Amino acid sequence: RAKSLVIAIDGPAAAGKGTLAKRLSEHYHLPYLDTGLLYRGIGKLAFERGVDLDDPVATGEIARGLEPAHLDEPPLRGHEAGERASRVAVHPPVRQALEDFQRAFAAGPKGAVLDGRDIGTVICPGADVKIFVTASAEVRARRRTDELAAKGRPPEYERILAEVKERDARDAGRATAPLKPAADAHLLDTSEMDIETAFQTACGLIDRSLNRAE
Ligand code: CDP
Ligand code: CDP
Repeated sequence: RAKSLVIAIDGPAAAGKGTLAKRLSEHYHLPYLDTGLLYRGIGKLAFERGVDLDDPVATGEIARGLEPAHLDEPPLRGHEAGERASRVAVHPPVRQALEDFQRAFAAGPKGAVLDGRDIGTVICPGADVKIFVTASAEVRARRRTDELAAKGRPPEYERILAEVKERDARDAGRATAPLKPAADAHLLDTSEMDIETAFQTACGLIDRSLNRAE
């Protein structure tokens, strides 16, 4: 492939974006950026420094000082971190501080796979292929519950379902870069798909769009 390839993966919490984006990045030999990690890092730093998560100016300052070293800690993965991430992610100064880095990542020579909430709508509106990954809230909560159970934690499906719905509402309801499919995104509902089927379906969508573009 001579030309670069930018693949934008968006969707709600626990839809399977990360799992899919990682497999696609391996399959198409592209660098991968999990943009949720940036917001999780900011939420964590704000919390640790006692900064009000609802303060746009103070959290924006933290976002401008974010460094790679802040991002490689396992606690960033959990629910608390996701909740803090979605609270700081509503602030325009926080989102602005991350724009250049994300766009520069996508503009690399080979292209890239990015996953998040606003990749197809705001960060990479010109992406070659956009996929909006969804699944019912019940299926997503079940997947997160199973993930925790596999790590030996007690299954708490009802609580996790409530959290998933709360985060969906905050991400879709915010004024700046709300969670929504780009007009030209392919919808991929994985409610009834295993990981392999979702991956094969996505490859089919991508290969078809690339053939059309040639
Ligand atoms: O990145 P995002 O929060 O959207 O989701 P993920 O972390 O990639 O996936 C959440 C969980 O769902 C993981 O445990 C995946 O293995 C699982 N999953 C699945 O069971 N079936 C799929 N089609 C996709 C993901
Ligand atoms: O993996 P999961 O879908 O649970 O969350 P994530 O992708 O790590 O994102 C955590 C939170 O960061 C989301 O709930 C969003 O509020 C925010 N986020 C965002 O606003 N824009 C992005 N491009 C990525 C994440």
